[in-house]
Amino acid sequence: MSAPQTFIDRELPRFQGELFELLRIPSVSARSEHDSDTRQAAEWLARRLRSIGFEVEIVETPRHPVVLAEWRGAGSGAPTVLIYGHYDVQPPEPLDLWTTPPFEPTMRDGRIFARGAVDDKGQLYMHVAALDAYLAEGGKLPINVVLIAEGEEEIGSPNLVPFVERFRDRLACDVVLISDTGMFAPGLPTIVNALRGLAYFEVQVEGPGGDLHSGTYGGAVVNPAMALARILASLHDENRRIALPGFYDDVHEWSPADRAAIKQLPFDEREFQHQVGVPALDGEAGFSTLERLWIRPTCEVNGLLSGYTGQGAKTVLPARAMAKVSFRLVPDQDPVRVARLFREHVASVTPAGVKVTIEELHGGRPWRASTEGRHYQAAVRALERTFGRPPVFTGEGGSIPIVGDFERILGAPVLLVGFALPGCNMHAPNEWFALESFEMGTRTIANLFDELAG
Ligand code: BES
Ligand code: ZN
Repeated sequence: MSAPQTFIDRELPRFQGELFELLRIPSVSARSEHDSDTRQAAEWLARRLRSIGFEVEIVETPRHPVVLAEWRGAGSGAPTVLIYGHYDVQPPEPLDLWTTPPFEPTMRDGRIFARGAVDDKGQLYMHVAALDAYLAEGGKLPINVVLIAEGEEEIGSPNLVPFVERFRDRLACDVVLISDTGMFAPGLPTIVNALRGLAYFEVQVEGPGGDLHSGTYGGAVVNPAMALARILASLHDENRRIALPGFYDDVHEWSPADRAAIKQLPFDEREFQHQVGVPALDGEAGFSTLERLWIRPTCEVNGLLSGYTGQGAKTVLPARAMAKVSFRLVPDQDPVRVARLFREHVASVTPAGVKVTIEELHGGRPWRASTEGRHYQAAVRALERTFGRPPVFTGEGGSIPIVGDFERILGAPVLLVGFALPGCNMHAPNEWFALESFEMGTRTIANLFDELAG
């Protein structure tokens, strides 16, 4: 075993303890009451990175800071790797569904349970651990490393593009390395080669000046909840295709070879259905479940609010209704264009008698990996060395909008090598990260530093 691997062996309990410290900090970026916690997580990371020999700066943004850490001891002849991760987490609610509290990390059945365990603190910390394994005891890394950890990923990274533009020169690199995705199955190392984009909206429907008695007024006044329901129902056709005119014009049709590669993956539809706990799966006609998740766009309602929702009945005609609606996008769709199509479509189906306003909350472009280049081969070798088998290549239905921006601004390819396992409850109660995945991830990253240097 190489020296870093032996070090990881020995120091794993310490790494786990340090990760638990980070997980105890409730860095919920969406909530302003957690602003000082979020900053504390940045400061905690900065301290750790300094202690292993990095030069670290905490860069302020209008909201949550970015940790910018650099180690350039490999010299100008060696490649430079930019590591990106996020130290912020999703809100933990609903709290009563957690077996143990979200910010009291707990080991059960070989899994670390905590908000952020896998998305993304645990995966970010694997990188810190792997760097530690090289730099401890006066050691050196075979590559130069720049690490950025942001605190706004879960709110759509509103300040990260300006950050990357401002620090473009210091972020210059040969490859961007990110662990914020998952493995296709336990024991099956995975490189993610496509991410969906996102266009997210809040739709407000306003009717009468205030709530009305539904007997006195119902039938003569347009009900905003009903109007909203009609608008939402109009978003799909009977084949589950999105009904906005022109929506599919720039959807890339994948080649038979690409679709065959997806079909090759060991995927059990029934097990998937069982895991999500639904009586049937459904989606766009003509596509398999994995295709629906990875290479086809979708439109979903993420939240819905109107009228009386307390105990018992209340005969009320609500004054307003609200929905959060998001589209997942695939190459070559553009979130700006989707916003325009969405506005036009909603305007065309909104009944007289209500006023609709649409606010744009997030946007992000879809992404597809460039699989040519030595960085890709290096990742394949590092995963094979660690897991004893070559990786599979998969898409991912979720979004990491900054990935495309990194490539565009820095001109370097992005490598997505993540270790979350299916069912890990990202964004949900009882989020977990297998301790074994944390270990294997750390080992893989250490191997990858080697492979990228060689
Ligand atoms: N880590 C996720 C992305 C992800 C999701 C990877 C599922 C693998 C599986 C990331 O933190 C995330 O949740 N992204 C958001 C982006 C949004 C807030 C702009 C998403 O996909 O909803
Ligand atoms: Zn994440």
